[in-house]
Amino acid sequence: MTDTPAPRTGSTLLGLGAMGTALASAWLTAGHDLTVWNRTAARARPFAERGATVAASAAEAVAANDLVVVCLLDDASVRATLDGVDLTGKDLVNLTTGTPGSGRALAEWATARGARFVDGGIMAVPPMIGVPGSGAYVFYSGSAAAFEAHHGTLAVPAGTKYVGEDPGFAALYDVALLSAMTGMFAGVSHAFALVRKENIDPRELAGLLSGWLTAMSGYANGIAGHLVTGDYTTGVTSNLAMMAEGNATMLRTAQEQGVSPELLQPFMRLMQQLVDDGHGDEDTTGVVDLLLSHGTGPGR
Ligand SMILES: NC(=O)c1ccc[n+]([C@@H]2O[C@H](COP(=O)([O-])OP(=O)(O)OC[C@H]3O[C@@H](n4cnc5c(N)ncnc54)[C@H](OP(=O)(O)O)[C@@H]3O)[C@@H](O)[C@H]2O)c1
Repeated sequence: MTDTPAPRTGSTLLGLGAMGTALASAWLTAGHDLTVWNRTAARARPFAERGATVAASAAEAVAANDLVVVCLLDDASVRATLDGVDLTGKDLVNLTTGTPGSGRALAEWATARGARFVDGGIMAVPPMIGVPGSGAYVFYSGSAAAFEAHHGTLAVPAGTKYVGEDPGFAALYDVALLSAMTGMFAGVSHAFALVRKENIDPRELAGLLSGWLTAMSGYANGIAGHLVTGDYTTGVTSNLAMMAEGNATMLRTAQEQGVSPELLQPFMRLMQQLVDDGHGDEDTTGVVDLLLSHGTGPGR
């Protein structure tokens, strides 16, 4: 006989917004022992009928289990919710979207309160959560021991990609992918604007865009190769001098179609700067360096 309490195998989830609801559903469907809390209690009540324990306060929810998953609106709501709550011995997994800096600061804050901390960046929208084969996954970084201890539970709603002990890395990978997606959406918006006033079915263009963007996505591998070797001229199939001509065609077409070039121009200006600086035989890898040299934040 021993007086040491057995480790608690259930988990706690704070936050039942669109994403928290999807996470809770996935765990409950898989038969997990789940305690939930939400600031607006009405959103938590339906989960009692599905077998979850609904806690009356965040502190009560945190006390219920060693694993505490947080999925709230932003960093401020996480701080507000956990302020004054005893985190001693807890494994805190934060699935709230933040910056690398906020992930690192939260890790320090949680560790000082006796918790192990793992940050997460969800690469999915709620309908993809808990759906096998949907492609949903979550970047995790921070305490490797805490991640390993709870991997079985964390892997239920979505795939997992652990990207290192630096608690800022989950957010960094997450935001890197989201930033690339934002640029893609900008291009897609411009493309639809070009054809909007013509007798062209947007659904036809959507299919073409989807195939074209997928085919072009391998371009990222070429950039990575250049960044690794430092030689930006190897394997260049479309050089900047040629692309600059293409850019002029794109801008003239925008004008002919009555479409603002405002989304394309910032990137094109950087490409032109590289051409003017004598890099016309390279492709767009040099833009990466320009962005760093033009950056205004403190950086790393
Ligand atoms: N939805 C997506 O497509 C998606 C995809 C990837 C990542 N995410 C991330 O997942 C997180 C949650 O997103 P969501 O879609 O679930 O958002 P949401 O539907 O707007 O839900 C926000 C949640 O945060 C709670 N909340 C807001 N302010 C609070 C405060 N001051 N104190 C305590 N609780 C507070 C809300 O509680 P109440 O119910 O009381 O308002 C609710 O539970 C965000 O960081 C988001 O970036 C979302």
